[in-house]
Amino acid sequence: MTSTDYRITTVCLGNICRSPMAEAVIRARVDDAGLSTRVRVDSAGTDGWHIGEDADPRALQTLRAAGYDLAHSGRQITAEWFVEPDRPDLLLTMDSANYAAVVALAPDESARDRVRMMRSFDPALASLVPGDPRLDVPDPWYGDHDGFADVLAMLEAAADGLVADLPLLIRR
Ligand code: 4NP
Repeated sequence: MTSTDYRITTVCLGNICRSPMAEAVIRARVDDAGLSTRVRVDSAGTDGWHIGEDADPRALQTLRAAGYDLAHSGRQITAEWFVEPDRPDLLLTMDSANYAAVVALAPDESARDRVRMMRSFDPALASLVPGDPRLDVPDPWYGDHDGFADVLAMLEAAADGLVADLPLLIRR
């Protein structure tokens, strides 16, 4: 057991836009809540196109303008992530396609239960179930800067709800 006892992994398609942004925002909120020694946050993509790459420059610019830091190297999630000793306790997917892809990697029911939609932690959306398009963080890759600002606002609302729930989640 390391000094951290709860591991959160955010997941999108390419691991260069949404999930690294979610990682940075959640980590900042976890720090603010005084939980940084207990909670580790990282990120991954369901595809491997951007393994080893930095985050998208638009994602980095949006984060830095809002006061967030991020050091990033793209990774791809695989089925092994569900069985390694320090496996994630919570996998937060950005859209329904990411959700389906990560659930498909999970070996059993208890692993599937650890996969949640990131926006389901937004208190305004908490009643929605995976598959509902209102829970999707839209992919900003093909759009302009405004898309990244919209993504950041969605992630901040969800991260606030998540951190409020963390004391309960960690205890489980
Ligand atoms: P992300 O965005 O899943 O939020 O990291 C994308 C990044 C790259 C690609 C698609 C989505 N791509 O096609 O390379």
